[in-house]
Amino acid sequence: MTWLKLLQFCSSVVHCLSLHIPSVNATVTQLLDPGNLVLIQNDDKRVVWQGFDYPTHHLIPYMKLGLDRRTDFNRFLTSWKFPTDPGTGKNSLRKYTSGSAQIFLYQGSEPLWRSGNWNRLRWSGLPVMMHRTIINASFLNNQDEISYMFTVVNAPVFSRMTVDLDDYLQRYTWQETKGKWFSFYTAPRDRCDKYSRCGPNSNWDNSLAEFECTCLVGFEPKSPRDWFLKDGSAGRLRKEGAKVCGNGEGFVKVEDAKPPDTTVARVNMNISMEACREECRKECSCSGYAAANVSGSGSGCLSWHGGWGRKDLCVCGCHHSRYASI
Ligand SMILES: *[C@@H]1O[C@H](CO)[C@@H](O)[C@H](O)[C@H]1NC(C)=O
Ligand SMILES: *[C@@H]1O[C@H](CO)[C@@H](O)[C@H](O)[C@H]1NC(C)=O
Ligand SMILES: *[C@@H]1O[C@H](CO)[C@@H](O)[C@H](O)[C@H]1NC(C)=O
Ligand SMILES: *[C@@H]1O[C@H](CO)[C@@H](O)[C@H](O)[C@H]1NC(C)=O
Repeated sequence: MTWLKLLQFCSSVVHCLSLHIPSVNATVTQLLDPGNLVLIQNDDKRVVWQGFDYPTHHLIPYMKLGLDRRTDFNRFLTSWKFPTDPGTGKNSLRKYTSGSAQIFLYQGSEPLWRSGNWNRLRWSGLPVMMHRTIINASFLNNQDEISYMFTVVNAPVFSRMTVDLDDYLQRYTWQETKGKWFSFYTAPRDRCDKYSRCGPNSNWDNSLAEFECTCLVGFEPKSPRDWFLKDGSAGRLRKEGAKVCGNGEGFVKVEDAKPPDTTVARVNMNISMEACREECRKECSCSGYAAANVSGSGSGCLSWHGGWGRKDLCVCGCHHSRYASI
């Protein structure tokens, strides 16, 4: 039995972490370069425990968020309990893996924000992450794991993602010259970016004047499942009643918007956008489609069938969404 006791002094609070590791032989403890504290078993050099598996509120370079499929071990972030108490707080950042993977920020079990799907370049709802010259984000989805990780391309730049107590996810970068952390982005970005802000439960009719959610061309607020959002690609609208399947249908392209919740989307990485569009056109239950991989001219297929899943259905006016009939 090995017990490792780590002490961290945070103002007046002493946070104590005790590890319970079942009967291992002699171990060595090493602090690796990226900041990972590992316990290595002497005889077979097996890592028996590592600090990166138990993050608190920070995600730092080389730390992974997500599921190790081999052991069913899920790594997620949780906010602190109080500003001076690193105990487990109410907010957490987790990877949600059904459908096409997304990251969710939760307060308890209530989603506060979702990242949008990983579109092979970035999380679709975080356009600021396009600047890959500084932060290199990567996403792995294979038989061993489904995980998100980032590194900084220019080593002297420090960056961290933090789940804070105020219901926000923040990314900070360290400004060497000023000697302080700067917020690079905050999510949710604004009221619009909150989960289900423009969902079907919104009181559309009564508050139109002050409500920032808008509707897509041909879409009626009372039938929210009939529209589609797509980042840089196309969507399809089905008008209630008339000529739905086959003739008379159109596609509406929606740009610069976060695609709907992909938790319930169908994913096929193997087909082209054209094939995706064609399948959606042919299949009556298909409400819309999007490219799963936006790199290059777009490929792969995300499609929504029947409904749009949970909430998060409307376009927010403050998202700078543009759309046009085609
Ligand atoms: C500990 O080391 C001994 C001798 O090398 C080995 O027989 C034993 O299986 C090891 N125990 C564990 C839990 O790995
Ligand atoms: C970005 O990360 C990927 C995966 O970890 C790595 O293969 C690639 O070399 C990195 N690119 C840069 C510019 O650091
Ligand atoms: C995707 O296509 C590749 C080769 O083009 C094939 O090996 C693979 O099995 C296909 N995957 C699926 C899920 O159809
Ligand atoms: C995404 O598209 C790019 C450009 O067409 C391609 O090189 C890459 O292999 C695709 N990635 C996946 C995971 O399909």
